[in-house]
Amino acid sequence: MAIMILNGALLYRLVIVVTIACLGSLFWFSYLNNCSPVQHPQQRPARPDLVKEEKPILLLWFWPENLLFNLSDCQTIFNIDSCFLTDNRSLYSNADAVLIYHKSINRDLSNLPPSPRPPFQKWIWFNLESPYHTAKKPGIENLFNHTLSYRQDADIFTRLHLTVRKTPDENFEIPKKEKLVCWFVSNKNGRERNAYYNELKKHIYVHMYGKVNGTRLEHKDYYSTMANCKFYLSFENSVYKDYITEKINGPLSVGTVPVVLGPPRKNYENFIPGDAFIHVQDFPDAKSLAEYLMRLDLDEVAYRRYFNWRRHFSPQRHLVQPQAFDLPICTACEYIATHKYYKEIHDLYKWYNN
Ligand SMILES: *[C@@H]1O[C@H](CO)[C@@H](O)[C@H](O)[C@H]1NC(C)=O
Ligand SMILES: *[C@@H]1O[C@H](CO)[C@@H](O)[C@H](O)[C@H]1NC(C)=O
Ligand SMILES: *[C@@H]1O[C@H](CO)[C@@H](O)[C@H](O)[C@H]1NC(C)=O
Ligand SMILES: *[C@@H]1O[C@H](CO)[C@@H](O)[C@H](O)[C@H]1NC(C)=O
Repeated sequence: MAIMILNGALLYRLVIVVTIACLGSLFWFSYLNNCSPVQHPQQRPARPDLVKEEKPILLLWFWPENLLFNLSDCQTIFNIDSCFLTDNRSLYSNADAVLIYHKSINRDLSNLPPSPRPPFQKWIWFNLESPYHTAKKPGIENLFNHTLSYRQDADIFTRLHLTVRKTPDENFEIPKKEKLVCWFVSNKNGRERNAYYNELKKHIYVHMYGKVNGTRLEHKDYYSTMANCKFYLSFENSVYKDYITEKINGPLSVGTVPVVLGPPRKNYENFIPGDAFIHVQDFPDAKSLAEYLMRLDLDEVAYRRYFNWRRHFSPQRHLVQPQAFDLPICTACEYIATHKYYKEIHDLYKWYNN
């Protein structure tokens, strides 16, 4: 079977090479026009781009974290209209792809879609938590066809990127600041970040928001509160490659300097200019970081340098609840419409926890 596929692929490549060679020869030696595919255009199948195909159906099997959003959001917010997105399970047997949110899967797998699974159907493993917060549910290691994650090596990689500007933006103004350091934290998770915070707060005052410590924050006040702080603690709940979340996007998008705790600086610099943020590992300890932040508080020129990147790159605000999952889901919608090939995922956890 594998050999047949390989031969098929080789044959296909050969046909392409021959076709390109023939097309090439058309340009270079038009009198040598003896390539049969070009001579008999009437025998060629219709151009695939002229075949009107129905949009693939993407079935959302679970609503992530039970956050219901408007299914038209892909169209209205991201201008993505390449699939038919639905949560109607009656469409299961006809769905081209099923999006399955890992956290919602029962341990005994009893709430997975039913058998038989249509042979054309692809299952997408959807998970935005780091390996530390990803429960291992035995039996799903070889069930899926695609992965959807923050990881850069996932099939469907989801992240808000900074957009490159060709014309520099000279108009950015740093918002008015009334607070020095802020942190929004919604749970007690994260031994590393909590330890760092407990050390840091001995040397600098941190305004806390969230249900664990401090004032509870309404979603509508998320961005304005953040913009009012000079620095924001973008502390991830666990430290893993590429696990760089909206916690850094928030401050970047409002004009606040992120102080990050997460994977090494180099990993951040895959996505964000190095002069746009402060990394806790830039300092030997929390005390030196606190001293640096207090120095920057008094040095307007040095503080401003953290916004130089804004001239050439534009951030974008991420959606907050209940639309927090819009972007990954819409990205999956676009993906299945453009990736219609066969694929299997093996040893899911081995890849994910690696
Ligand atoms: C969803 O959004 C569309 C387009 O903006 C709108 O017409 C529709 O009323 C919304 N549906 C719900 C249930 O809010
Ligand atoms: C789900 O799809 C089925 C089959 O197309 C349809 O009969 C039903 O009305 C749909 N349900 C909802 C809630 O849209
Ligand atoms: C909440 O406050 C307590 C007491 O100040 C502190 O020990 C703890 O680390 C804080 N938790 C978080 C998540 O910051
Ligand atoms: C999807 O993956 C499953 C499990 O490996 C496999 O049995 C199935 O044939 C794959 N289907 C497609 C369309 O890729």
